[in-house]
Amino acid sequence: MSLRVTDARSRSLGARVCNPHQKGLATRFLGIARRRSGCLPSSVSYLEIRDLEKHFVKKAGGLLTHHTDTIKAVDGVNLEIRQGEILGLVGESGCGKSTLSRMIMQLIPPTAGSIILNGENLSTLRPHEVRRRRLDFQMVFQDPYASLNPRMTVFSTLAEAVRQRHPKMKGAELEKKVTDLMATVGLDAGQMRRYPHEFSGGQRQRIAIARALAPEPKLIIADEPVSALDVSIQSQILNLLKDLQRDLGLTMVFISHDLGVVHYVADRIAVMYQGKIVELGTADDVFHHPKDDYTKRLLASIPMLRSA
Ligand SMILES: Nc1ncnc2c1ncn2[C@@H]1O[C@H](COP(=O)(O)OP(=O)(O)OP(=O)(O)O)[C@@H](O)[C@H]1O
Ligand SMILES: [Mg+2]
Repeated sequence: MSLRVTDARSRSLGARVCNPHQKGLATRFLGIARRRSGCLPSSVSYLEIRDLEKHFVKKAGGLLTHHTDTIKAVDGVNLEIRQGEILGLVGESGCGKSTLSRMIMQLIPPTAGSIILNGENLSTLRPHEVRRRRLDFQMVFQDPYASLNPRMTVFSTLAEAVRQRHPKMKGAELEKKVTDLMATVGLDAGQMRRYPHEFSGGQRQRIAIARALAPEPKLIIADEPVSALDVSIQSQILNLLKDLQRDLGLTMVFISHDLGVVHYVADRIAVMYQGKIVELGTADDVFHHPKDDYTKRLLASIPMLRSA
């Protein structure tokens, strides 16, 4: 009998790591209203992506034969991200996942199309209005070491992120906020004066998650947040993200090339291929009853374990 690695992994991922103390802190101190507890995500859309495109033009060829190539990194994506859900975005390397997330984060402008937040088209807003909305979006990256400033202590990193939302916060109040943030992600606040290199990879990713939570966001985009981590640590970080999303009522886009991991974490899954969304459905439907040929190929490419 054969068994998918991901099914086996899903079971081991199921061992939850959240402790009740951590959950209580999350809702008591972070200033983000608890919206739901284990119930289904809302059907209200938080963000709508309409006909979104990002084309990169690059020079190619030699001195005499130069011409330009256009890479359609994102090629007409329509997607709705519902309030309080984890939307999994899955696809092979180079299919456009990070480019799509960078457009949502307002880090790069789209070539065409629009991003609608609570009925407001972000491209029609003035820069200072976009900067204000932008605080509601935070990102967790693949490599926590590269994304943290090695010269800043955990306290400085988190305090700076808290001050984006509360510019006047300082002293004991700020220190308490940082302490609470560290407890929320399962870190010992006694270590707040340490530097990133003094932590393990998993702990560094917890710092990066705390930094993302610090400005009290509504949406978190996690771009391959466990790909750089040891397998034994991956489940802890996945469970932490799931617990935080549930306890804080966050909306989350979880990006990965691993359909098994996405199935474990997400409520719905969007499958991306060559800049387009080729399949969208509930996590169970996409994982167990894929319709698109590319999704079937993604599933088939998951290594199989032979059970004894
Ligand atoms: N700034 C850029 N200039 C030119 N091409 C780019 C740029 N950024 C991305 N691309 C191209 O766009 C395509 C999509 O890249 P993207 O990083 O979004 O893929 P991805 O799905 O996130 O891949 P991975 O899983 O490896 O992170 C790739 O072909 C990439 O080379
Ligand atoms: Mg990427």
